[in-house]
Amino acid sequence: MEHLGAHLAFKSRWHKTDEELCRHSTSFVLHKAIRNDFFASYLYLLEKYPLVKLFAMTSEVIDGEMQFYIRARNFYKDVPATDEGMMGDFSDLSNIDIESSREFLRKFVGGPGKAGTGYALDCGSGIGRVSKNVLLPVFNTIELVDMTEPFLEEAQNYLEEEADHVETLYCYCLQDFIPTPRKYDVIWMQWVSGHLTDRDLLIFLLRCKNALKENGVIIIKDNVSRQGCRLDPLDSSVIREINVLRNIVERAGMAILAEERQRGFPELCVPIWMIAIQ
Ligand SMILES: C[S@@+](CC[C@H](N)C(=O)[O-])C[C@H]1O[C@@H](n2cnc3c(N)ncnc32)[C@H](O)[C@@H]1O
Repeated sequence: MEHLGAHLAFKSRWHKTDEELCRHSTSFVLHKAIRNDFFASYLYLLEKYPLVKLFAMTSEVIDGEMQFYIRARNFYKDVPATDEGMMGDFSDLSNIDIESSREFLRKFVGGPGKAGTGYALDCGSGIGRVSKNVLLPVFNTIELVDMTEPFLEEAQNYLEEEADHVETLYCYCLQDFIPTPRKYDVIWMQWVSGHLTDRDLLIFLLRCKNALKENGVIIIKDNVSRQGCRLDPLDSSVIREINVLRNIVERAGMAILAEERQRGFPELCVPIWMIAIQ
């Protein structure tokens, strides 16, 4: 509520001055003073409220929200619908990635107080690499959502006989997708959170939170920058600092159950983290 305080202080200061100063001074002085005061309040908010800072940061980094999304869509048009395509230049690391994901998932699923094994949703699924290797061995039914249609078409072959356990393939951008309320035990988001702006990620997390069953868990696995927030111009994604991710989770009214850094990847790779939230 402090920001309301700042806003009211700003308003009451100028409410009186507006009338008095306008009568006795030139509009130039008034304009300059208001402008300075406005930026002082804005800077105060930047300092005080990390999310305000965060939105400002992403907008700076992505250089236009529409372009940010269009560039990613264009990038994936040329990506082959294969394991290599999903892993970039690191397809030989797919097995290590899968092994760690399985281990991490086990901590939150099955058993008293943990998530059930009924339904999982794979967000930014691509051809279903995570679905096939991490989710299908655990859940009775899974669903996939991805914005790139050819990936979802390929998913039906790629998942082979396990495709019977797939209820729906949703061809949607996550920023437009509303998962069914209270349906999923686990919602997995791998290498896709960076394709959403901070605002859209926050809103999407709120929808996912609503889509969880009791004891349900959301798992985000993504590249995390060592410092600051930067744009990967190749695929048009933002690589966030872990603190920024934590902040978005907190703003979505969720708690972090566990965080773990992916082991076994070469040092020169951007660090990858798994974060379980509820
Ligand atoms: C690097 S691939 C990762 C695929 C899969 N998660 C995996 O780990 O194998 C990123 C995927 O996110 C999808 N994607 C990117 N931006 C998206 C968005 N805004 N909404 C939905 N899917 C998106 C792409 O189509 C692509 O399939």
